[in-house]
Parts: sequence; structure tokens; C-alpha cells
Amino acid sequence: MGMPISRNAGMAVAVALAIAAIGAAITQQADRAGFVTAAKAETSHPFAPIAAVLRHPRCMNCHPRDDRPRQGDDRHVHQMNIVRGEDDMGFVNARCTACHRDENNKHSGVPGAPNWHLAPLSMGWNGLDDKALCETLLDTAKNGGRTLPQLVAHMTADQLVLWGWAPGGKREPVTTPHADFVSQLKAWEAAGAPCPQS
Ligand code: HEC
Ligand code: HEC
Repeated sequence: MGMPISRNAGMAVAVALAIAAIGAAITQQADRAGFVTAAKAETSHPFAPIAAVLRHPRCMNCHPRDDRPRQGDDRHVHQMNIVRGEDDMGFVNARCTACHRDENNKHSGVPGAPNWHLAPLSMGWNGLDDKALCETLLDTAKNGGRTLPQLVAHMTADQLVLWGWAPGGKREPVTTPHADFVSQLKAWEAAGAPCPQS
């Protein structure tokens, strides 16, 4: 009479193992689904496409976290030892506007736009991750006292910003079309200008 019981017990163990295996498979699938959802949420965060524009060399070259403007797509230090000076417009003997005029110079290739100068140190962005970039941008103590609508307006219409889409010479314009950038800004603003959590 012992045999059937132990056979039943064996069955029970087998069934339990099978259930456990199915359970593990389901958990694994759920984990993977969760991971995919999380990854997707991260790439589609409303600030992500804006960060991509801010990181473009056409923008970043003027927004360093030190005293040197940068040049080119590799963002090398500006030739001729150019520095920001006290007012972000260059040192006494090398003012930005001595070379950079109100428009791109077709002959020399020197880029230009009205009031060409370096973004103040508090508006330096290079090396910041999306979270820090977003928080810096929104911080009125760093962004020139701009409210959210003013910030969006600046990125929509400021002449130094717009230069990024018409940079002259052999320079690549910002990759995202400007109209798309404006839509992305509006969507981010409408969502309450959230910053990524990491
Ligand atoms: C020629 C240099 C130059 C270029 C190129 C440039 N900026 Fe700026 N940017 C500045 C200066 C200078 C200021 C400060 C203006 C002020 O406060 O009046 C500024 C301020 C800003 C601000 C507001 C302050 C802040 O940091 O939140 C934003 C946003 C901004 N720029 C975005 C951009 C974007 C986007 C691009 C590229 C498409 C760009 N800039 C390209 C010089 C530049
Ligand atoms: C003596 C002339 C001269 C002065 C002064 C000067 N620049 Fe330039 N700058 C140039 C030239 C020339 C180029 C173009 C180099 C090239 O395209 O190879 C250039 C390129 C740049 C670029 C590169 C744009 C890009 O995205 O590739 C930035 C940004 C810039 N200058 C900012 C400044 C700022 C800010 C100042 C003042 C603090 C300044 N420059 C002062 C001559 C000057």
C-alpha cells in the first residue's frame, strides 16, 4: 500500500516543479516586459529630444562649463587662445565681435549672428546628464531668471539659437529640424516641464 502513496507524492512533486517552472517563466517574461517598458519610457521622456539638441556641437560650443569657447563637431578648444573674459565677450584684445559679426562671413567662413558671445558660466552644460541638464536649464538662478515660457521663447526665436540651423561654412546644422524642436519644447512645456529622474 506504500507504493501508490509514494507514486502520488512523486506526481505531486512533479506537478509542483512544473508549476514552479511555469511561474518562473512568467516572472521572467514579466521582468523582461517591465524592463522594455522602463527602457521605452526613458527614451521617450519628453526632455530627451530637447537634451539631444542642447548637446549638439552648434549649441554646446557656446555653452561650456569653463572659459573656452569650442569649435567644430569635435568641440575642440577655440583656436588662438580665445577666452570668455569678464563679460563673456572675450578678453580685451580678442573680443568675440572683432571677428564674429552679425552674420556668417561667406568669404572667411567665420560664423556670425547678432550679439555673438559665450553663454555665461552658469549656463554651461557640457558633461551634464539629462537630469542635471534639465534642472540647470530650469533653475532661474542659473538661466538668466527665465520663466518656463521665456525659456521656450528663447529656444524658439533667439538669434544665437537660430544660428544653429544656419551655421554657414561647412558646419552641420543642428540635426533635429527647428520646427520639430519647437513641437518638442511645447510638448515638454505642456507636460509641466518634467526632468528625467536619472
Ligand atoms: C554664439 C554663442 C551661442 C550659441 C551658438 C548658442 N548659444 Fe545659447 N546662449 C548664449 C548666450 C550668450 C546666452 C545668454 C543670453 C542671455 O542670457 O541674454 C545663451 C542662453 C541660452 C539659453 C537660456 C539660458 C539657459 O541656459 O537656460 C538657452 C536655453 C540657450 N542659450 C539655448 C541654446 C541652444 C538650444 C543653442 C543651439 C541651437 C544655443 N543656445 C546656441 C550663446 C550661444
Ligand atoms: C581673432 C578672431 C576670433 C575671435 C576674437 C573669436 N573668434 Fe570664434 N571663431 C573664429 C574663427 C575664424 C572661427 C571659425 C573656425 C573654423 O570654422 O574653422 C570661429 C569659430 C567659433 C565657434 C565655432 C562654431 C562651431 O560650432 O563650430 C564658436 C562657438 C566661437 N567661434 C565662439 C567665439 C566666442 C564666444 C568668442 C569670444 C569669447 C570668439 N569666438 C572670439 C575667430 C574668432
